[in-house]
Amino acid sequence: MRTKSKLFMSALIAAAAIGNFACTPPAENKSTEENTMEQTSTAIPDSSNFSGEVNGKATHLFTLVNKNGMQVAITNYGGRIVSLLVKDKTGAFKDVVLGYDNVKTYQKRGEPYFGALIGRYGNRIGKAKFSLNGKEYNLEKNDGANSLHGGAHGYWMQVWDAKLINKTTLELTYLSKDGEAGYPGNLNVKVVYTLTDNDEVKIDYSATTDQATPVNLTNHAYFNLNGAGDSTILNNELRIAADNITPVDNTLIPTGKITPVKGTAFDFTSFKAIGKEIGNADDEQLKFGKGYDHNFVLNKHTLKDAIATVKSPVTGIVMDVYTEEPAIQFYSGNFLDGRSKDGKGGVAYPLRSALCLETQHYPDSPNKPEFPSTTLNPGKTYKTTTIYKFSVAK
Ligand code: BGC
Repeated sequence: MRTKSKLFMSALIAAAAIGNFACTPPAENKSTEENTMEQTSTAIPDSSNFSGEVNGKATHLFTLVNKNGMQVAITNYGGRIVSLLVKDKTGAFKDVVLGYDNVKTYQKRGEPYFGALIGRYGNRIGKAKFSLNGKEYNLEKNDGANSLHGGAHGYWMQVWDAKLINKTTLELTYLSKDGEAGYPGNLNVKVVYTLTDNDEVKIDYSATTDQATPVNLTNHAYFNLNGAGDSTILNNELRIAADNITPVDNTLIPTGKITPVKGTAFDFTSFKAIGKEIGNADDEQLKFGKGYDHNFVLNKHTLKDAIATVKSPVTGIVMDVYTEEPAIQFYSGNFLDGRSKDGKGGVAYPLRSALCLETQHYPDSPNKPEFPSTTLNPGKTYKTTTIYKFSVAK
């Protein structure tokens, strides 16, 4: 095993050395055994299950590995994080994100955006329209009357050009054409995933445009720090450094108000089990969201301090989130239903068996001038970084 792991690492380094071209073939995950580090209790899916073609473009699975043996597997189909192997309190590796074993399942209808890059606009735009510089734009309605996560042709279902920079860095680029999903302007998007030796998944987003357009990019990883496939995240403890949320109507569009969390089920300013108040029957916001599905307005947003932390009492795994974005969507997996056993390893993902912490600008900002602007103008560069850092509780 030791030799095989070393061989796998050398293969990655070799692949990285030749990897300086678009759509680099991935460091092949020859077999699940070779992929599995010494203490790994879970495996990364076989990369051959991700070799395919979607809309005439090749799809692959890339695996990044750091000096501690932590691994993240990413496919250029939707720029999705497929697996994330992190050490638990026993020193064994656990996969902490939900996903599928093959690229086909990621394309099934109603797939919940597992691990995906989201754009051109993360979360909802009300009535699927907005006006910019005096012109009205109509977007794809894919959530009742609203547009969600960039519409039916969002970045989560596009094949990105991929360049493996080295064994810890993957660069993805995508040209979102003028009019795609209804948005104005050709938007050149670049996302760089880096797995640092400090056990961080760092996501650097940048974009430029040739016409004014709203932009709000995020990643939609579904985390379960007990291990993907565990039945619930309700026992995970969460802290979010946010004194306010943007409450929503019953279609999950912000009302425009900004309201304090103090004295409500939304107060995560100190650690609280996610399940503690999620069932509060008299909370209208929890009713609208079918649980937590809300934009938390961050008190600070620099990369200096963690703005959110999740802890698993089962594995001891801790995840700290850092972002330059002004807000974070905390979604408690309320639409997962566990109906099909098509999760990695043939498991089902039941209701609330994962949580998302999507760093973002506020939902529906293009229709809410009082919210921080999401407009990107020609000549300017959209640039933002988010970090998910892993450790084990002391
Ligand atoms: C949204 C949820 C949605 C989920 C998956 C989240 O970002 O806020 O309402 O159900 O993504 O689609």
